[in-house]
Order: sequence, then C-alpha cells, then structure tokens
Amino acid sequence: MAQVKPALLFAALAPAFGLALATPARAAEPIQPGDRMHAAQLWKANCAGCHGPGTAQPDPTPLGLRLGAQPLRNPALLAARTDDDLITAVLKGGPGAGSPAFKFFSLLDAADLVAFLRQGQPTIADVFPDAAAYTAKTYTLQGPALTRAESLSGVEFPASERELMVFMVYKGDRPALGPRVVPQDPIKLDALSPRDRLGFVVFGALSPGKGQEPVPYALGLANDFSVQRLLSGGAALDLSKVTAGVVGKGGREPGKRKPFVSKGAPEQAAAITRLYARAVELAAIANKEESDRHLFDAPDKK
Ligand code: HEC
Repeated sequence: MAQVKPALLFAALAPAFGLALATPARAAEPIQPGDRMHAAQLWKANCAGCHGPGTAQPDPTPLGLRLGAQPLRNPALLAARTDDDLITAVLKGGPGAGSPAFKFFSLLDAADLVAFLRQGQPTIADVFPDAAAYTAKTYTLQGPALTRAESLSGVEFPASERELMVFMVYKGDRPALGPRVVPQDPIKLDALSPRDRLGFVVFGALSPGKGQEPVPYALGLANDFSVQRLLSGGAALDLSKVTAGVVGKGGREPGKRKPFVSKGAPEQAAAITRLYARAVELAAIANKEESDRHLFDAPDKK
C-alpha cells in the first residue's frame, strides 16, 4: 500500500505555501509512529466532532452530515485530490466552505493529517503500477446504461449508487511522488493521449463479514473493459476466493457480460458484479468523451 511520507510531503509542498525549508528534505521515510499518534490526537481534538471519532473508517457525525461532510477515508475522494488540495482544505477550509480553516496548525500538522487519512487506502498506483497521470470524474448512470447495469447486477440502484467516480489512467513520465491527478480542464485533458491510456479504476467497499465495517477495494478495468485487477484495501477483506471469478472477465460487448460467479464467495461476487456493472457503463461514457476530445487530432497523437 502506498504511504505518504510526511517529510517528503513537506519538502514537496513547502514551496507551494511560500515556505523556505529550514532543513534539507529528508529522503523518503515511512510515516513515523509519532507522526501517526500526533495526527490521531489532532483528529480527535479537531476533526472528530464532524468527521467521526473512529480512526479506521470514520463516518461523519450527525452535525457533519448536516453541514455536508462525506466520509474522508474514501479512496475515491482521496485519489481525486492532491496532497496540496487536502492540506489547503485543512489550513484554509474545505472547498465547500463547511470545513473550518485551522489557521493555528503548522504545515507539518496538516501534512501529518493527510498522511493519516491516506494511510492504508488503496491507490491508483496500487492498481496500475505504471500510472503517471490520471483523471477523476463523477458520472451518473441513466437511460439505457442504467437499465443494462441493473439487469446485469439484478438489482435496482438507489440514487446514491447511480453516481460513481471513474478514474482514467495513463502511462508516461512518472512524477517522483507518484501519479498526478489531471484536473477536468480541456487543455490539460487534451495533453493526455488515448494511446497512453492504461485503463480505468473505480473504488467500492465490502464488509468482510456480518456487522463488520466495510473495507474499501479497487477494481481496475483494462481498455477492453475486462477486469484487469481486483485489490483489497485492507487485510480484513480477503478477496482471494473471488479473484478467479472476476479478473479477466467482462468486456466491451454488453450482451456478453455475465454476473461474476464464485462458489466460495457468492456474496462478494454479487457485490463486485454490482460495482462492475456500473463501472463498465460509465467507463464507456468516459471513453466516448475522450475519443470526442481527440476527434480532430493528428493521427500520430491518437
Ligand atoms: C464543523 C465541522 C467540521 C470540522 C470540525 C472539520 N470539518 Fe472537514 N469538512 C466539514 C464539511 C461540512 C466538509 C464538506 C464541505 C467542505 O468541503 O467544506 C468537510 C470537508 C473536509 C475535507 C474534504 C475536502 C474536499 O476536498 O472535498 C477534508 C480533507 C477535511 N474536511 C478535513 C478536515 C480535518 C483534517 C479536520 C480537522 C483538523 C476537519 N476537516 C474538521 C466539516 C468539518
């Protein structure tokens, strides 16, 4: 699991915040137990009242929900934000203006909190180790795509499940700190070549057993829309029984997609089918948007 190193983060971000580094940047180090404890204390004292007291997968408290907070230990939300974005949200307030500005925090406090949030979450680079850049966009299932997804998974999706964040992943020159998020800006998107696309990633969550907290997991789709990778976001969630029934399955032709089956883990197979059914329809929309963007490119750029 990729971890954010606070020291490295600090070195990378200090210039962005107009700070000169007093000491030379330390090389990549694992997050220190002290940093984690410090972050957990800051979290309890300052964040838990809205974002939830749990440290594994805290859910927003009733107050947080009323203000519009979403679960922060959500790999999709975390992947869609840069460390810079998250640190800014802590120090200067959230983009939705519901999260207060913690002006008395140091940059290092904020970096520790971001490392604490990212700790153990599955990332895009875990799914596609060659990833250099990726886009993140939330799509909503509707019309025939919704009907097809519902018929593949055999359930009707509640409104909350019709929305899904889809990541499109590209190879190329990989930044030292890992793949970069490319914002939804036409000029920046245009610079990504469809030829470099590795595939798509979506995130879900599955409870390891009755009454247990859901654990996030990632599903990677190849460019042909088959499942390339299934990755659990924590030791508590064992996906080994279902993997053979999922990886390599699925594909471009809606008529040929079948629900995943697994003798050993039928409930996991059904839950992953439910995510895949939505992911594949929305990846097709993302794919179409990308080809429309490149319709008039010179042939060598495609
Ligand atoms: C008074 C309630 C409250 C407190 C206290 C609070 N938050 Fe928030 N936070 C929110 C709400 C509401 C949102 C969603 C709206 C927004 O983006 O501002 C949010 C959003 C966020 C986001 C997501 C921003 C994004 O990019 O979407 C982060 C990160 C965050 N909070 C971190 C923290 C941290 C870390 C602390 C403690 C140091 C904290 N918050 C304390 C209410 C709170």
